[in-house]
Amino acid sequence: MFALPTLLFFFATGAAARPTQQLPLSASRLALFGGDVPWNASRWLAVDDRVRGGSSQSHLTAIPGSNSALFSGILDTKTLGGAGFASQRAVPTSSVSWDLSAWDGIELVTVKEDGKRYALNLMSDLGPRRPDGRVESTIEYKYSFDSNPAGAGAARSIQWADFSAFYRGRPVPDASPIDPARIAAISIMCQSYFAQQDGPFELEISSVAAV
Ligand SMILES: *[C@@H]1O[C@H](CO)[C@@H](O)[C@H](O)[C@H]1NC(C)=O
Repeated sequence: MFALPTLLFFFATGAAARPTQQLPLSASRLALFGGDVPWNASRWLAVDDRVRGGSSQSHLTAIPGSNSALFSGILDTKTLGGAGFASQRAVPTSSVSWDLSAWDGIELVTVKEDGKRYALNLMSDLGPRRPDGRVESTIEYKYSFDSNPAGAGAARSIQWADFSAFYRGRPVPDASPIDPARIAAISIMCQSYFAQQDGPFELEISSVAAV
């Protein structure tokens, strides 16, 4: 179900002025956020480098009058000497994890980009809570992409195999691949990639779907 819908989708959005959900593909996708599932900012929680002593910050807000959301914030790299990340994380509402095994990957559709490098992360487990209330780090399956410096949005179809395992920012080459039957959380992140970027960031997202 992946190859053909993806091609059609890119042709369809290529012709349009901006990405749209109004495509004849609703049967081949499962909306997670946006599209058929209105954005609800309360479902998103900031997971910024402040949990490690940094001072980056992020926000996710639903944009009134549209069905898109703004992921924005400020990436600070000075506090942690070059490192830094800001992210927003969401979990499923009606079960502990999403079973997306019927799908080939995740489609991320944006409306407006700012040229920064972003990552979409999937987690199989949420880390256990430590006595001090912090959540232990777990393996994150990450897909990084350079957004469009000219500002236009894009539709990206990301297959499961395109996600690579990281633990606390370091690659874990021998980790097992992501299990699409058990996705406990999804996050959108802006990170410094070792001080290659910092400062304000802003990504307008139309939808996240399994495709
Ligand atoms: C938005 O999400 C919050 C937190 O999960 C939930 O309590 C609330 O009912 C949701 N609102 C809507 C309109 O779905």
